[in-house]
Amino acid sequence: MENKKVILSGIQATGNLTLGNYIGALKNFVKMQDEYDCYYMIANLHALTVRRDPAELKENTLKVLATYIAAGIDPEKSTIFVQSQVHEHAELGWVLDCYTYMGELSRMTQFKDKSEKHADNINAGLFTYPSLMAGDILLYQADVVPVGEDQKQHLEITRDIAERFNKLYGDTFKVPEPYIPKAGARIMGLQDPASKMSKSSTIPNDTILLVDTPEEIMKKVKKAVTDSEGIVKYDVENKPGVSNLMTIYSVIKNISLDEVEKQFEGKGYGEFKTTVGEAIVKELEPFHKKYNELMNDKIYLEKIYTEGSRKASEKARKTLNLVYNKVGLV
Ligand code: TRP
Repeated sequence: MENKKVILSGIQATGNLTLGNYIGALKNFVKMQDEYDCYYMIANLHALTVRRDPAELKENTLKVLATYIAAGIDPEKSTIFVQSQVHEHAELGWVLDCYTYMGELSRMTQFKDKSEKHADNINAGLFTYPSLMAGDILLYQADVVPVGEDQKQHLEITRDIAERFNKLYGDTFKVPEPYIPKAGARIMGLQDPASKMSKSSTIPNDTILLVDTPEEIMKKVKKAVTDSEGIVKYDVENKPGVSNLMTIYSVIKNISLDEVEKQFEGKGYGEFKTTVGEAIVKELEPFHKKYNELMNDKIYLEKIYTEGSRKASEKARKTLNLVYNKVGLV
């Protein structure tokens, strides 16, 4: 346990997760559990940067937790916790705010995107979002942070903040490495394969939610945008829709894209889509069962996050004490 490398990652508590989250993040989280000392967080403080309904935020916190466990994260092996329950996050976040420059924060593409999307609520939290995220990571002295492509810039600023702090006060933080999985890092929308599959997409049938029924999944895959060529071939530029379905299939079946091409040689899109849809349904079947059981047992879920948050806090406190001591907070 002691000499295992540390992983920290988190997902925002903002509702139903998608097949994109499952393939790009959760499947990797599960794989890494044995090799690493893993901390998996439910980022509910970050969720406040956009207006949320309080009851929904609470429910979504449990949904993400149930999703983690149903996807295969074992609370006996990994520490699963809620960000707001480990007060060290808010505390280190504040300190790091004071070591993060306005200039660098204003270059963050997520800030620019979200400011555009929520023009009536460009709050300070949205702006300092990356220094809170840096705190999440640095509190655990994480070696590796698995994230999607869209969070890469936040990892870079985290490294900059850590290096800046270490230079001023001597070695304090481990400088973390991002881990961006090659296969399936970016699952795209089924209707708009130029954009990432997102739960906030407003296009009907664009997103497969992990809670979708088998019928919904089959319907969405069958309606997925393809092209008029009729050949199952990987070519993101010219065949983004087909390539996206191939990626999904290859990750689920654990085979290469070449093998997918071979499997569907001479076959039309109809058969291809049915096979892909069925593979997704089969992959998610045990997930659904477990997820529903968990969502019906809130007492168990509360127990898991309370215990996980206690464990996380123990580790986080050590780093926070060190930081307070270094900067001169009594
Ligand atoms: N910002 C991340 C996202 O939206 C969620 C997150 C918060 C996170 N804190 C983190 C991810 C720390 C990795 C590490 O996806």
